[in-house]
Amino acid sequence: MISYKIKNIDNQYISAIKSISDNCFGYNFLLIKTIKTNLRQNGIFKIIITDNTVAGFCFVYKYLSTNNNIPEFAKNNKTDKIAVIQTLAVLPKYQRKGLGTILLTDILADIKKQYKKVTIYYPFWAESKSANFYKILIKLGFSKVKEYPHYWHNDSLNNNYRCAACKSIPCECSMHLYKL
Ligand SMILES: CC(C)(COP(=O)(O)OP(=O)(O)OC[C@H]1O[C@@H](n2cnc3c(N)ncnc32)[C@H](O)[C@@H]1OP(=O)(O)O)[C@@H](O)C(=O)NCCC(=O)NCCS
Repeated sequence: MISYKIKNIDNQYISAIKSISDNCFGYNFLLIKTIKTNLRQNGIFKIIITDNTVAGFCFVYKYLSTNNNIPEFAKNNKTDKIAVIQTLAVLPKYQRKGLGTILLTDILADIKKQYKKVTIYYPFWAESKSANFYKILIKLGFSKVKEYPHYWHNDSLNNNYRCAACKSIPCECSMHLYKL
């Protein structure tokens, strides 16, 4: 069993998060200034440490259904509390050791502790090398509700990043939306 520590994110971890994101999603998928803005939102932001290394991170945003800034895909649902697992990543060197599942499970427990009734969304990158991770989502009770082709197309043009799967701009990957 791998030993690990889960911590809330603070400023000292921002450059480690940028480097995990560059590695997993593509260079500049997250800019330092984007990470800083993200961390000011209402949410849960955690890292997982093993081997004295920040091996992974997860950003979750929390919304009320009345919020104006709620993502389009989360509109019109039955609960008024919504959580979106926006980004989950583990450095390739530490993948397939269980850390992603551990971090996600920890965060789901946090969300459920905070909210009795909540709808949780996971916008999942379908072309990821680790797309088999969707099996973990199913095990945890998620189901797929919709597929969005070319979901990051405009994002990749606007932010000029090369997705790790497409290796060119624009990104043509699909997002599969899972819901719990
Ligand atoms: C998805 C991710 C967060 C999972 O983290 P992790 O620590 O590797 O997760 P786990 O070790 O708990 O793995 C769970 C399952 O995911 C799948 N998986 C994870 N990494 C994989 C890889 N590199 N290749 C193939 N399958 C992989 C496997 O099915 C694995 O189970 P198994 O090892 O028993 O076969 C991580 O692989 C990652 O950051 N990938 C790149 C970014 C990404 O795809 N994020 C999620 C989609 S939005």
